[in-house]
Amino acid sequence: MKIIMLGAPGAGKGTQAKKIAAKYQIPHISTGDIFRANIKKGTELGNKAKTYMDQGLLVPDELVCDLVVDRVKQEDCANGYVLDGFPRTIPQAESLQSALKALGESIDYAINIEVPDENIVNRMGGRRACPACGATYHKENIPPKIAGICDVCGAKLILRDDDKPETVKKRLDVYHDQTQPLIDFYTAEKVLVEVDGTQPMDTVFEAICKILGA
Ligand code: AP5
Ligand code: MG
Repeated sequence: MKIIMLGAPGAGKGTQAKKIAAKYQIPHISTGDIFRANIKKGTELGNKAKTYMDQGLLVPDELVCDLVVDRVKQEDCANGYVLDGFPRTIPQAESLQSALKALGESIDYAINIEVPDENIVNRMGGRRACPACGATYHKENIPPKIAGICDVCGAKLILRDDDKPETVKKRLDVYHDQTQPLIDFYTAEKVLVEVDGTQPMDTVFEAICKILGA
């Protein structure tokens, strides 16, 4: 089961990808999480990525493609994976496609989570993330049991640097300009499926499971 999550920033790609990965026992590969982990460790990749991420811009394709292509070739990806936040540009999609083709493989589903722009800014302002284990919450919609504290590991939750309203608006512009064309790309590949991301988290997940046939 090789799955791509598509959708605007804040559509719920990460939230649903984690649930899919747990249910189907496949790795969840989030390029955003990989960059944030590198920023935290202060690696060269992290330092480079941060300058783009803080402005709401995409990290250049050449810093992303090889990273993901190498990752999906690892042993734990043999039964599939869920890609969250990649591909995000047509060149990224083409690079993934040609790498998979060389292995005789292809993507099974590109799940587009649809959420209108007006819902997004509110969601992002309310998102709280765990810097230690990566779990995500929403202050009102998906609150942690104790305000400000991660249910999973007990660390203090934070507002992501790029979730400030000005940066969110920039990320939405970048999404419409560079990432939305992937909807046509995967429609042409006959793997695009759509779910209504404005529904509650569990309803969205049920819709996804129905599509995946379980
Ligand atoms: P990335 O981390 O991928 O950010 P993003 O795409 O902007 O998406 P988010 O993680 O913000 O949103 P999400 O869709 O995962 O939503 P979530 O589930 O958290 O990338 C960050 C940056 O890294 C990029 O801007 C770029 O610079 C760089 N980057 C990453 N990949 C790249 C690539 N391939 N190429 C180039 N650059 C790249 O949900 C959002 C909130 O809503 C949460 O609070 C959640 O609790 C809540 N929520 C979720 N579902 C629901 C629901 N159904 N109802 C109500 N609330 C909900
Ligand atoms: Mg995410």
